Amino acid sequence: MNSGTSDPGKSKQPAYWTYIRVEDLLSLQGGLDADEKSLTNDEVLFITVHQVFELWFKLMLREMVVLRDLFRVQVDEQRLSGAVRGARRIATILRRCVDHFEVIETLTTREYLEFRDKLTGASGFQSAQMRQLEILMGLEESSRISLGAGENYMQALREADGSDSPALSRVLMQLDDRPSLREVIDDWLFRTPIDGSSPDDSRDPENVASFVEEYLAAHAGEIDTACRFALERTAKGFDKEAVTARYEQEKQSLRAFLCPEESEGGERRRRIRVATLFIITYRELPLLAWPRELLDGLAEMEQFFLVFRQRHARMVERMIGKRTGTGGSSGVDYLDKTALAYRVFQDLWAVRTFQIRKEAAPELRNESFYDFRYG
Ligand code: HEM
Repeated sequence: MNSGTSDPGKSKQPAYWTYIRVEDLLSLQGGLDADEKSLTNDEVLFITVHQVFELWFKLMLREMVVLRDLFRVQVDEQRLSGAVRGARRIATILRRCVDHFEVIETLTTREYLEFRDKLTGASGFQSAQMRQLEILMGLEESSRISLGAGENYMQALREADGSDSPALSRVLMQLDDRPSLREVIDDWLFRTPIDGSSPDDSRDPENVASFVEEYLAAHAGEIDTACRFALERTAKGFDKEAVTARYEQEKQSLRAFLCPEESEGGERRRRIRVATLFIITYRELPLLAWPRELLDGLAEMEQFFLVFRQRHARMVERMIGKRTGTGGSSGVDYLDKTALAYRVFQDLWAVRTFQIRKEAAPELRNESFYDFRYG
């Protein structure tokens, strides 16, 4: 970039500091009194690290909107590469976020306690962009874990006197911005041809049922073999009945997964789950290459959201132990619960349990349907 000369020929070329807005950026670490000189290095570090995270959240939000919008219209397999790139970019950013916790861990508990009291009431719990990410991704409102003090996450986004805040407006706007990423991915999976059969084919229910029956049989065969091996190797005194029951339970779990209750979405959810299993099972087929990469990319993205939550919880435990959070939650206990419960792409995780070896997969019908077609 140029040096900001007054030469008229160059006046339209921006300088680095103009483009990056460096001075604006460096003026934002002054804390509550906007006076950086009055703050210790520890506190400036604390503020800066949070700001860096918020910038990463901003980028992830932009990527997730593009990813979601790609699926608002019917998307062909070849265009899925853009979606895969988006999911992987989000996962990469999250990986970096996880590393950033190391920087905050250079603070000792005592150093943090020096300024912690003035934060009371303020917490990462009020990060509107984090909530936006969760909502856009498709986290169900019903699965949210309460702060434990009768307060929900929307109330926490209000100003201390109960009035609206910019954070609240952002989150309300996000709640209105449907569909979520999960909803569009579900729609796409619902339309995915299974053994070459699509939902608008008149015989689709029968075709899907045939695949399901054959998969259940193939899976049962794999489980029986695994059970036999396990029984042969169990030590004396080991409860063989309990081992057998555990393997039988795996078969039942697959049945339940492929025959969801009405409350879980019934027939529609069934087709979505079967399609997920189908893509993963025949992942080598040319036409399933991008769909399979997308499912892997989404799983990776969600994995790093979970790792982010777990990493944050361990950093918090190291920093403040099990005390109450500045946002009023039970602190680490609350954070650990979110790390377990906040999963959006649950079916994607479930199919890992039910996958079988390539050689054991049911014979594919209509294989030529999945050849690569250009254009
Ligand atoms: C000394 C460092 C930190 C401590 C002790 C800490 C502590 C906590 C605690 C106890 C909570 C639970 C809510 C509450 O009661 O306050 C929380 C929530 C949260 N914190 Fe931190 N935090 C720290 C740094 C960070 C950083 C650097 C980020 C990055 C943005 C962050 C992001 C979040 C988010 C997003 C939540 C909401 C989690 C959820 O509700 O799912 N925290 N934090």
